[in-house]
Amino acid sequence: MKRFLSKLVAMGLALGLSSCSCNEPKLPDYLNPEKDIEVRIDDAMSRMTLDEKIAIIHAQSKFSSAGVPRLGIAELWTTDGPHGIRPEVLWDEWVQAGWTNDYCVAFPALTALAATWNTDMAALYGKSIGEEARYREKDVLLGPGVNIYRSPLNGRNFEYMGEDPYLASRMVVPYVKCVQKNGVAACVKHYALNNSETYRHTTEPVVDDRTLYEIYLPAFKAAVQEGGAWSIMGAYNLFRGEHACHNDLLLNKILKEEWGFDGAVISDWGGTHDTREAITNGLDLEFGTWTDGLTMGKTNGYDVYHLANPYKELIKSGEFTTKELDEKVRRVLRLIFRTAMNTNKPTGSLVSDEHIEAAYTIGTEGVVLLKNDNNTLPIDLIKTKTIAVIGENAIKMMTIGGGSSSLKVKKEVSPLEGLRKRVGKDVEILYARGYVGDTTSVYKRVDSGQRLGDDRSEKELIAEAVEMAKKADVVLMFGGLNKAKKQDCESTDRAELGLPYGQDRLITALTEVTDNLIYINISGNAVAMPWIDSVPAIVQGWYLGSEAGNSLAAVLVGDVNPSGKLPFTFPVQLTDTGAHSMGEFSKNGEENYGEGLLVGYRWNDAKDVTPLFAFGHGLSYTTFEYGEATVSRKTMKNGGKVIITVPVTNTGSCRGKEVVQLYIADKKASVMRPEKELKGFVKVDLAPGQTEKVKFVVDTQALSFFDDKQHCWVAEPGEFEALVGAASDDIRTSVSFVLK
Ligand code: GLC
Repeated sequence: MKRFLSKLVAMGLALGLSSCSCNEPKLPDYLNPEKDIEVRIDDAMSRMTLDEKIAIIHAQSKFSSAGVPRLGIAELWTTDGPHGIRPEVLWDEWVQAGWTNDYCVAFPALTALAATWNTDMAALYGKSIGEEARYREKDVLLGPGVNIYRSPLNGRNFEYMGEDPYLASRMVVPYVKCVQKNGVAACVKHYALNNSETYRHTTEPVVDDRTLYEIYLPAFKAAVQEGGAWSIMGAYNLFRGEHACHNDLLLNKILKEEWGFDGAVISDWGGTHDTREAITNGLDLEFGTWTDGLTMGKTNGYDVYHLANPYKELIKSGEFTTKELDEKVRRVLRLIFRTAMNTNKPTGSLVSDEHIEAAYTIGTEGVVLLKNDNNTLPIDLIKTKTIAVIGENAIKMMTIGGGSSSLKVKKEVSPLEGLRKRVGKDVEILYARGYVGDTTSVYKRVDSGQRLGDDRSEKELIAEAVEMAKKADVVLMFGGLNKAKKQDCESTDRAELGLPYGQDRLITALTEVTDNLIYINISGNAVAMPWIDSVPAIVQGWYLGSEAGNSLAAVLVGDVNPSGKLPFTFPVQLTDTGAHSMGEFSKNGEENYGEGLLVGYRWNDAKDVTPLFAFGHGLSYTTFEYGEATVSRKTMKNGGKVIITVPVTNTGSCRGKEVVQLYIADKKASVMRPEKELKGFVKVDLAPGQTEKVKFVVDTQALSFFDDKQHCWVAEPGEFEALVGAASDDIRTSVSFVLK
């Protein structure tokens, strides 16, 4: 902002406009914030040379693209990532520049946000991260990610919002809107079908149109049409013969024509592979193409980008007019005027108390209580004298590593730290490593300061943990995954569903000396739990960012009653998923999504497979009772709607929030349809004894499937059932109605 305003004044002076002359000549339209953006674009384009038009549609550095210095049109600065603002990097490198003013707040990973099932949390998230981006003077936030969780092995699931398109669609909209209220563009990624990592540059998912439109596109469509996303990031993978970063079907036909997207399509870094396709197939802004940026080519590596000199040569040769170029420039200028040259942006803020509080609140709302036999949780702080905390994930910093979402935080509270701070005065807290997993502590020159090396044998580590468990009233084991390669990490997928580093042996050994082990799973993915029958309490603790330890401690001791619900299924074994029984996963070339529509709980329903924990599952420290569902009318006209009402009562002894879920079943369809699909959710906050009549509006869209023959959404007349419950495998009541 400061940069831009000083330029504006300088420009005014350069153009002979002085701030003191009485009959001040008017600002040129493109510089006049009073003018409509489209007018400013037309005026700017009329003044730009061919070279300036070419310069503005590709990177000039690792994370920035040129403006038009001569005209005072601002550069565009992008930044990762979906969970917080990446530290400044050197002009053309991935490593951090070592600035000291770019520490940030790490917000919970987006799986944890999705697990809140609370759109207010998504709005708070977008506002907070948008303010941090704004303060760091970034114009485009490279997030959120909304790729569908198809397999528990995908390395980047932690950056996304789960397996269901409706949940992801509802949660992405407030995030995008509230980021953009800061004059910072969201860049929703990775469009589309980027559902695995190891072969992300060469894989080519094969899905039919129904699966594409019903499962993999809805969250992007909602981000564009309801969230008003100002930019979209193309994915690395191919789809139907073209790379997603220059894909006529995905970018021109669906995104821009069908959905009316007026923003800019930004390539993923290195996702652009073909000059002519980049020109004709909808790419607007090329970043990260595989050069090191400053040494290839005569003067400056960026000139060898597809949309740089090669494009200019093709125009000069007459093979292309400037038709496509002008369309790209128009979209990039629109992005610049909405962000970098937006003169009424707020100022933003960095590591404010509000942002730290937001990270804490979203974290506590996202924690999922998976199992709680004999009310093992919350920890009774009166009776408990000694707590044994075991596991590397109780101490390991998780805000660094994992790929482009890695951060440099002002502070990260570990689970052990959070517990010590919360109960350390009254309760003795012991710690044992239990297992050694990933001991790296530096990522792209960001150093966590931790030195986790430990050369003890597994036997010694387990023995120490077991001895400590024997001395404790409560045993908390923090395990799970981390941000190392082949764990929850960009560019690699996991090799197996099971816990790494011998954790299963540790947990089994602990269950032999304590019958109230509490296991907290720190991960962005489902894991196998062969020991589940011997562990009475299990919590999904996610990657909760800067406030992780405080959020987890609050839930574990009962300061906060957990209300999170799983945004994806925990299968018992890999072959209990569609991707790993009917489809292919993570491979070069054609990758057949053979399970089609049957992703996640849709598969469990279709094949009658019992999950370890179901989509939408999450317990509370209180209990809820559902009354009978009623429907406002037994017949619904096409284009009309019905209201489903269900009374929900808090029948327990403490206040709690419940996510009431609505699934729709099409009882007789001319096509194969999943048994039921999530089409509504409401999070209620009830005092003990309080009842709320939860209402859902069901319209034709909620009954529709995508008819790939007619290429449109269709709701077929006939009987439908509204199923309402606390989880996809915990339907409490249902009611039928007929669509005329
Ligand atoms: C990475 C990621 C993308 C990220 C970009 C810039 O490869 O795929 O999500 O925003 O490059 O770091």
